[in-house]
Amino acid sequence: MAHAEVGDDVYGEDPTVLALEERVASLFGKEAALFTPTGSMANVLAVRSLVGVGQEVLCESSAHIARAELGAHAAFIGLTMRTWTAARGALDLAAIESMLAPDLGPFFVPTKAVSVENTHNVGGGAVASMVDLLALRSFADTAGIGVHLDGARIWNAHVATGLSLSEYGGIADVLAVCLSKGLGAPVGSLVVGSRAAMEEARVWRKRMGGGMRQVGVLAAAGLHALEHNLDRLADDHANAQLLATACDVDPAQVDTNIVAVDVPDAPAVVAAAREHGVLIGAVGPRTARLVTHLDVSRDQAQTAATVLTKVLTGIR
Ligand SMILES: Cc1ncc(COP(=O)(O)O)c(C=O)c1O
Repeated sequence: MAHAEVGDDVYGEDPTVLALEERVASLFGKEAALFTPTGSMANVLAVRSLVGVGQEVLCESSAHIARAELGAHAAFIGLTMRTWTAARGALDLAAIESMLAPDLGPFFVPTKAVSVENTHNVGGGAVASMVDLLALRSFADTAGIGVHLDGARIWNAHVATGLSLSEYGGIADVLAVCLSKGLGAPVGSLVVGSRAAMEEARVWRKRMGGGMRQVGVLAAAGLHALEHNLDRLADDHANAQLLATACDVDPAQVDTNIVAVDVPDAPAVVAAAREHGVLIGAVGPRTARLVTHLDVSRDQAQTAATVLTKVLTGIR
């Protein structure tokens, strides 16, 4: 990062940012990419490329775009959302088909896109099935609507399934991907899609206050993360299996690096684990969320597993 060559990225003159954008676009088989400070901004820019004011995007009811972006898509784009609900955030093509609303002029809100989250955060890091994704792609093509992929953790899906990033790129018109999660970069996400969409997204990024100047220092961290930290996500997945077993969660329900644990009182479990030096989160009153990542070694995962078994035995 300290040695990154930089320039003014608002003018498209930061060589390190340009290198990162080119690298990520090519990984997903797309024409272009755009660096953003956060995954949330990347999602807003990505969805905006498909859906406009007074139009709708369909997504799962616990999707990050629906629950955890503070209404940004409504506030900045003026779109509406309708949702389906499925175990572990899965794609439900039958529900999507039944919700599709054609453009009827001055009547119903027209459906312009479907958004899929892969892996699914609140769904416990669940990987979307490629069979379902391909079926969605062909449905969307027939219906004339777009597909947005919230790929904040698409890297984990890629490592878990062995499917290439370009196969995931192929099912979506536009993706949002994060470097700052399991890949370990301190900051940074990208929107990935067609050149025309990225040119528009560049304007909207500036409009939203996300045009950054000599930001190559951060892009350098992203390039390092892609170079060094992608394959090692498999270690995080193995550590998550260890934690699942310790918490009495079926390891078959843990696809990647997130373990969702049903508990009677999630905040109490979080507090008790913290007292023993294990930091976990609560994503609902009765759901604790464990995440393994670059900064958790196998030994630390073992320690966390021992602590969590004790804490859960006391609380359950
Ligand atoms: C699935 C998903 N999408 C998007 C984001 C947003 O990323 P950021 O925190 O960088 O805004 C997150 C963050 O946790 C996420 O889990």
